[in-house]
Amino acid sequence: MEEMRSIQWFPGHMTKTRRKIESQLKLIDAVAVLLDARVPYSSCNPDLRSIINNKPRIVVLNKCDMADPAETKKWLSLFRQNNIAAIALDCKTGKGLNAFIPAVKNVLSDRIKAWEAKGMTGRTIKVMVVGIPNVGKSSFINRMTKQNRAKVEDRPGVTRGNQWYTIGKGFDLLDTPGVLWPKFDDPSVGEKLAYIGSVKDEILDTEHLSGRLLEYLRDTYPSPLCERYKLDKTEVSSMQGYEILEMIGRKRGMLISGGEIDTERAATTVLDEFRNATLGKLTIDKAEEHKDVRI
Ligand code: G4P
Repeated sequence: MEEMRSIQWFPGHMTKTRRKIESQLKLIDAVAVLLDARVPYSSCNPDLRSIINNKPRIVVLNKCDMADPAETKKWLSLFRQNNIAAIALDCKTGKGLNAFIPAVKNVLSDRIKAWEAKGMTGRTIKVMVVGIPNVGKSSFINRMTKQNRAKVEDRPGVTRGNQWYTIGKGFDLLDTPGVLWPKFDDPSVGEKLAYIGSVKDEILDTEHLSGRLLEYLRDTYPSPLCERYKLDKTEVSSMQGYEILEMIGRKRGMLISGGEIDTERAATTVLDEFRNATLGKLTIDKAEEHKDVRI
């Protein structure tokens, strides 16, 4: 997409974050990689695997309240097939949060046994939370700390500004140092992140974006799309995105002076309704298209 390409992401941004994360790796036992359950592939920073190197990791599919439950299941088994521990949760209702600490302990079970053998029973487990902006890192940390009535502290001796959070007896979280940018140089990734609202709308052509989203929904989720906007599935199947947008505008009575359809307003409505899941619980990165997923 043309407008996606115009977003400039300087490699310097990532270099700085890479350095910060690398310098903290020695302080932690595992990494929790937060992904957006609607776009588990597109919301993953492509350099993450090399940055966290061989640290034990666990994938957390957040916002699963807005994702297609059948797809979330497929993603979870896909990660597990690839030997990556994965859980799904949502920070809106708190569903699934209880599984986090046990899942991390499971990933670290061999190490925990080794610590215990050395007499280090009850050693604090430290986990770094990483994820691209807007994936829900703060919400996750807030939820986990609240759930366990724990306190936030700034530890002396650790780089200033690093936030550690105690989320349970012997369990600490460290917020991502730096900003982990997504892979914006891949236009389809940029586009999907724009659908979910991770790219500021001011820099996007909303009609174009909404038209592309409608074409995607036409092909992958025709029923929720047609039910929501009272469209005819057969008719829609041969329509272009902009034509679908016009039809939605017409059906919703979105007109501007002269009787013209207010496609701008229709576009905003479609994007909003997709982003807040009014259109349904929809996942736009399909597990079957990313069988060799690695993190
Ligand atoms: P970040 O630290 O990774 O940048 O993300 P943050 O926690 O700020 O979350 C970004 C947005 O996503 C917030 O919405 C937050 O409420 C929402 N969010 C986080 N987790 C979930 C989830 O599991 N389900 C749903 N539905 N939403 C989630 P916002 O609109 O920016 O703010 P607000 O609505 O909280 O005011």
